[in-house]
Amino acid sequence: MLDAYQFVIQHPEMIRESISTNLQGEIRRAAEILCQSQMNLALTGAGISVESGIPDFRSAGGLWERYDFMEYATISAFRANPEKIWQMLAEMEDVVRRAKPNPAHKGLGRLEHMGLLHTVITQNIDNLHQEGGSTRVIEYHGNSKTLSCLWCKRQYGLDEIGDQVPPRCTCGKVLKPDVIFFGEAIPPRALDESYDLASSCGSLLVIGTSAQVAPANTIPGVAKKAGAGIIEINVEPTLLTSSVTDIFLQGRAGEIMAKLVDEVENLMRQE
Ligand code: APR
Repeated sequence: MLDAYQFVIQHPEMIRESISTNLQGEIRRAAEILCQSQMNLALTGAGISVESGIPDFRSAGGLWERYDFMEYATISAFRANPEKIWQMLAEMEDVVRRAKPNPAHKGLGRLEHMGLLHTVITQNIDNLHQEGGSTRVIEYHGNSKTLSCLWCKRQYGLDEIGDQVPPRCTCGKVLKPDVIFFGEAIPPRALDESYDLASSCGSLLVIGTSAQVAPANTIPGVAKKAGAGIIEINVEPTLLTSSVTDIFLQGRAGEIMAKLVDEVENLMRQE
């Protein structure tokens, strides 16, 4: 026993090999679940768009490291000083505008196309799922493609507002992108549909979320209670990993999703 232990420690390349073999085996297991389940769902967070060039919120270098979210991301902060909040929003809009879907977004689009993914529930506001081929997307935290006036309620498309920062309504007030700030309600339809789907899904693919923000972070628990298999993809363990996750695929979303979809396609060919 002791010899075998020392042998492994002295040959790190063998450790790497066994880890990657395990990961491949886990990817295979995840692919089997996706092929066998009645209804698969995905829940995504900012981590899925990191490989598209959009930093996440809570990792090192994330948005909340540079901006205090209590100061910049609550609805009361926006109402009090929208010009200040637009300093951050303008930076975000610029990054989002240049981003393109990566293999993780495209992989989810592909799974939907193959009839193996019912809906993507996303906390992201970047529209990359739709651009990556997903047609059924629930935007839990809204979308940045439209903006509204909190005072007179007029809504505008991004193409209508030009380059002015901050953009203003014809009534003179500063416009707010239709994304959900802290303290705002989740769009009721997104909330209800997500809950209904999670309560009846066979598996849930959770990709790139730290699961620190409610109520989105309750969705995996709802699915688990309904008997769903929970497959999690993240570069590091999260609050979900040791509580509800059945299969943890550690790595970058784009790389893992590309392998997972390949494996699903292999299984489908064998059937
Ligand atoms: N691949 C997979 N996961 C990744 C990658 C990657 N390339 N890069 C980062 N991650 C993981 C991080 O390890 C982290 O667990 O993505 C997660 C991102 O977590 P957050 O930054 O907290 O983002 P998210 O969970 O989407 O935040 C939820 O909080 O600030 C609000 O409204 C905002 O929708 C957002 C919500």
